[in-house]
Amino acid sequence: MRKKIVAGNWKMNLSLDEALALSNELKVIINHHNKQAHSRDVSRLPEVVLFPPYVYLTKVHDVFVHDGSISVGAQNCHHADKGAFTGEVAASMIRSTGATHVLIGHSERRTYFNEDDALLSQKLKGALGQGLVPIYCCGESLEDRESNTFKQIVTDQLVKGLFWLDKDTIKSVVIAYEPVWAIGTGLTATAEQAQEMHQHIRQLLSEKYGHDTAEQIRILYGGSCNAKNAAELFAGKDVDGGLIGGASLKAHDFFGIISSACS
Ligand code: PGA
Repeated sequence: MRKKIVAGNWKMNLSLDEALALSNELKVIINHHNKQAHSRDVSRLPEVVLFPPYVYLTKVHDVFVHDGSISVGAQNCHHADKGAFTGEVAASMIRSTGATHVLIGHSERRTYFNEDDALLSQKLKGALGQGLVPIYCCGESLEDRESNTFKQIVTDQLVKGLFWLDKDTIKSVVIAYEPVWAIGTGLTATAEQAQEMHQHIRQLLSEKYGHDTAEQIRILYGGSCNAKNAAELFAGKDVDGGLIGGASLKAHDFFGIISSACS
């Protein structure tokens, strides 16, 4: 059975003090839950990964380093190992902070920073080369949804950006389906719309890599997911957790989502 993941994408929010306060609050809530819970229930919690801005990675990682309840990842990386790329951050640098994950191809990167599938493939290569777990994001715009081309758009993003990986390597990748029209808008895909796309993605994985491999890969939903709608969304057979933006900035809201992903 696939273990669910709940990932919090803080985007470009919070001061350092606020980031540490949120991390510590989450740690207290999770530890309290674990103390109260039967040991069987502790193992039912999903994997939790936080994606703070780069400059907070080390400090947020340090909050969780001893209890291991939460992992930390970066919101982006540069594709090269090192070099004259002022302002950029390499996957090796992210790894050296203790972070273990990285978001690749979030729709805000695709839209505002013109990241295309060719570039994202290079970033994936850089991230995997450093042993980071990439969360590869895909998703259609409102226009694509309304013109009924949404499945084709997501298919293209996966085929061009991801499906060049071999069968062993693809297993290290997590996919996040995030319909662009649902991100930060308060509009959520219905549980049926989410499951339909997740099933489509798993079918594509199965055609390319075989049934067994497809069954091992986690596919997260993202887009205005919150403590109220998470349980319904995560109930989809092919929905393996969520990538959460706004609702990850408040510890209790985020823990509500984490609880909805208990197996
Ligand atoms: P949202 O963002 O939950 O605020 O819609 C999700 C994301 O962008 O990953």
